[in-house]
Amino acid sequence: MKFFIDSGDLDEIKKAAAMGLLDGVTTNPSLLAKGGKPMKQALAEIAAVVDGPISGEVLAVDYEGIVREGREIAAIHKNLVVKVPLIPAGLRAVKTFAAEGIKTNVTLCFSGNQALLAAKAGATYVSPFIGRIDDTSHEGMQLIEQIVTIYSNYDFDTEVLVASVRSPTHVLQAALLGAHVCTIPFKVIEQLAYHPLTDLGLAKFLEDGKKIPKG
Ligand code: E4P
Repeated sequence: MKFFIDSGDLDEIKKAAAMGLLDGVTTNPSLLAKGGKPMKQALAEIAAVVDGPISGEVLAVDYEGIVREGREIAAIHKNLVVKVPLIPAGLRAVKTFAAEGIKTNVTLCFSGNQALLAAKAGATYVSPFIGRIDDTSHEGMQLIEQIVTIYSNYDFDTEVLVASVRSPTHVLQAALLGAHVCTIPFKVIEQLAYHPLTDLGLAKFLEDGKKIPKG
């Protein structure tokens, strides 16, 4: 499973990249608004740090606007992926982008049928929002299971990009279900390596290590 960081914060992105396990980056308007930089500048700076797919989202909601903004985003750097909302105009634009060789990430996916449409339109990635489904007292991971099954039934090339991840359990479940990508907030990336028994065991080994006679 590929690891993307879900962030618009360049310092966080640099720290995650330094771990050596980062495959790409996803941003959204809410994340980039926190950084306070113009979108193109922020995406170009991220592309200079991470050599992998970087999703930048369009703000337009009509077909012509999505296509215009998407082409501008794709022109920033070869690794840019155009993030498009899962609405009819967005799906139409995804088909246009696919014909032009522009990669897409279809975002705000909340149902198996929506994911089916994204794949049929030729999306590179589909982003089901797991945490936001959990927030409504439904089981977000059931959606990942559905999409993985649907895509495997028909051999779609679209990759399942698990988004709106809130905890290490989400990452584990995504991996167990065979999702292609998980986009993870920096805090959760840090939590993945943590286990109290590792810390306790290491402390004991270091303590005992001092008792080994020096040779
Ligand atoms: C990433 O592609 C999504 O925009 C992001 O994961 C949404 O996360 P949130 O539900 O925590 O805002």
